[in-house]
Amino acid sequence: MYEMLTGPFFWISMLVFWIGLLVRAILYIRGLDWQLDRVAYRAHPKIGAKFALRSIGFWLLPFGTQGWKKQPYMTVAFFLFHVGAVLVPLFLIAHNIFLENKIGFSLFTMDQGVADFLTWAVILGTILLILRRIALPEVRILTTAYDYMILVISVAPFITGLIARYHIGDYHFWLMVHIFCGELLLILTPFTKLSHIILFFMSRAQLGMDYGIKRGGMKGEGMAW
Ligand code: HEM
Ligand code: HEM
Repeated sequence: MYEMLTGPFFWISMLVFWIGLLVRAILYIRGLDWQLDRVAYRAHPKIGAKFALRSIGFWLLPFGTQGWKKQPYMTVAFFLFHVGAVLVPLFLIAHNIFLENKIGFSLFTMDQGVADFLTWAVILGTILLILRRIALPEVRILTTAYDYMILVISVAPFITGLIARYHIGDYHFWLMVHIFCGELLLILTPFTKLSHIILFFMSRAQLGMDYGIKRGGMKGEGMAW
């Protein structure tokens, strides 16, 4: 089982994740239509890029946008969850040792204490995100079982990773459960809302360009529309 999970399944999950996200990004760009969107994307690449980066930057900054400021509970829950969700899988020592052995390549690694702390933060963030979906009527009416499923799939590698890390119960069993959950997350990402890992950047860039090029960013510069 371990050989399967760290051999063919590992490769399949990596390929599906990276190629899948690339395809989603390409399809997003191909779906843009400057005439329908009424944004001259190509005609003003410089100002477009500037406002695209600006929009992404403010959204990645806690309390950076009006939306984050108006919803402080969501901001705290979101960043508690996302800082660890993005950084731990990439920079965990154990993951990079695994990668080094597998493909002879590894990234910068973070301190084990920091990784533990961020992983607990992901779990706390998930609880806060679930409570928000239950407590706020305007979020509750939009919430379906699918939203909870995405949260469970997302947090599973963090819970099982910690169980393995603290050697609770049978280490090898929990490590295999962990790797299975991690690979499941990677494989499902391009086909579910988890594709926001790339589509967040695409849609923020698009809207940033929209604001920069059309809705005021180029005011007074002789735009035809
Ligand atoms: C793709 C296959 C994966 C493999 C082979 C793998 C392997 C491992 C290994 C060997 C450990 C260390 C267990 C120990 O300390 O003894 C670990 C821990 C962990 N992994 Fe993974 N993992 C994978 C995917 C993922 C994914 C996709 C995520 C998150 C999205 C994730 C999150 C974690 C976390 C949070 C820990 C524990 C962190 C801590 O030490 O505090 N893993 N993983
Ligand atoms: C660079 C990477 C990422 C960015 C920029 C990002 C951004 C976002 C944004 C903007 C939202 C919507 C928040 C809202 O409702 O207002 C969101 C939600 C969510 N993200 Fe991410 N994300 C990233 C990576 C990840 C990863 C790696 C995971 C899973 C391990 C993840 C899991 C989730 C989940 C489960 C939600 C829904 C939360 C809820 O139910 O309220 N994200 N993300």
